[in-house]
Amino acid sequence: MLDSEQDRLRRAAQAGGAAEGNALQYSAQVARHADPGTVVEQFERTAYVASGLSTRPDGLGDIYWSLWLVQRLRARLGETRRRRAASEALVASEAFVEGLHAALSAVAHDAMNQPANAAACLEQAVEAALTAASVPTRPSTTVNTPKEEEQRAMSDREMKAVRIHGFGDESKLAVETAPIPDPGPGDVLVRVHAAAVNPVDSLVRQGVFAVSDRPLPWIPGWDFAGTVVATGSATTAWSVGDVVYGRPSLARDGSYAQYLAVEEGEIAAAPRTLSLQSAAAVPLVTLTAWKALFDLGGLKSGGTVLVHAGAGGVGTMAIQLAHHRGAKVVATASGDGIELARSLGADEVVDHRNEDFTARGRFADVVLDAVGGDTLERSYGVVVPGGALVTIAGTPDEAKAAELGITAHTFVLDSNGPRLAEIAALIDAGALRPVLTRVLDLDEVAQAHRLIDSGRTRGKIVLRVP
Ligand SMILES: NC(=O)c1ccc[n+]([C@@H]2O[C@H](COP(=O)([O-])OP(=O)(O)OC[C@H]3O[C@@H](n4cnc5c(N)ncnc54)[C@H](OP(=O)(O)O)[C@@H]3O)[C@@H](O)[C@H]2O)c1
Repeated sequence: MLDSEQDRLRRAAQAGGAAEGNALQYSAQVARHADPGTVVEQFERTAYVASGLSTRPDGLGDIYWSLWLVQRLRARLGETRRRRAASEALVASEAFVEGLHAALSAVAHDAMNQPANAAACLEQAVEAALTAASVPTRPSTTVNTPKEEEQRAMSDREMKAVRIHGFGDESKLAVETAPIPDPGPGDVLVRVHAAAVNPVDSLVRQGVFAVSDRPLPWIPGWDFAGTVVATGSATTAWSVGDVVYGRPSLARDGSYAQYLAVEEGEIAAAPRTLSLQSAAAVPLVTLTAWKALFDLGGLKSGGTVLVHAGAGGVGTMAIQLAHHRGAKVVATASGDGIELARSLGADEVVDHRNEDFTARGRFADVVLDAVGGDTLERSYGVVVPGGALVTIAGTPDEAKAAELGITAHTFVLDSNGPRLAEIAALIDAGALRPVLTRVLDLDEVAQAHRLIDSGRTRGKIVLRVP
């Protein structure tokens, strides 16, 4: 370990001294106590203390420190296990600590290579472990009882949200207090933990894409993961405490807010193996990729697909879905996006800055165009006769397609809860993973929009909702 890393580790460990004390105290509770709710909750608190440290600038040291802390917790639990018969509390605590250890080990390497991402890595690890441990064993009181502050906010019916009162640049995104929405009869009210950022959010903000004739202000954001806190009178599918994710209707207020009212059919149980931040990065882009590739494109095992913008939000999921289906995947990308596209399963990657993808002639059964403009224009010529061009970033020329003996399609995505359940199953089976490259606070929403407006981001940006 380098000296500077040791220094950072030492500083982080000093800062975390109190947390360590708590952690050991909580371990002692495991040893003498058998109330599963209390014990799991205490471990959650410990983890949040650890994740709180990730806001410190020396995030890399925090990873190491947390790993060390978790190793101590494991040892302590091991001792407890030797002295006591397994209780539900012990099993839950072990599941959490094992999950945290595995997740931290997995991110430590990435964090070492990219210290700037260490804080996000640590937080993801903690969330992944919490989600994994909580699913089977977390008692309802742990999940359902809002913190004191939150109880107050709920009784005042107020929440923190990002709203637009007029259209324009990112300065129009106001972080402010807004009323908590009332769930309709077929809705659930979700406490949002994370919301992903998509290009459509920016188009709505700019007034380019009119999603509703409701009067302003609107809350943007149409990707989320969170916990159900209330259900409508006619809701049957969900209960308070369910951990869900979704891409809600564009016509209603979105997910850049602490609470979201969403139709029960538009959501699914969040993947058990993902943190809620990672889960929030999944719905919109994965539903889009699925519809384009399979519903409209008709991509089959053994077919060849060209995925444009393979390093972007839609592209990163499209490559994986097509690869999983057994198709040959050719993607366009540039710079470090090339390696990213390969790592996700692209068989070939065309560097769109230096190579011409049309040079291969007609080779693709399906093209997924997420770029539009000139890229769309040039894509007709690479589709084999009988194949399909699906664009999500332009208007297809059906006459031109017909001349070439191909079909051309576009669509605006619908919400789809049942398909999100299929996607969650694929994720939990290890066939698919979101590419989360940036986590920002809700307060940093303007920065998130500047990034998405650059058109150069990799994978997904997610907002952490306090
Ligand atoms: N119709 C629908 O329902 C629907 C749904 C989702 C998205 N969309 C639209 O689809 C588009 C893509 O969405 P997204 O979420 O994937 O966006 P994104 O994540 O912002 O895409 C960014 C990526 O695009 C790549 N890119 C830009 N120009 C490129 C080019 N000429 N060739 C190849 N790659 C290029 C960039 O890579 P480089 O740095 O290499 O350029 C970057 O990695 C957006 O226009 C969005 O509005 C439509």
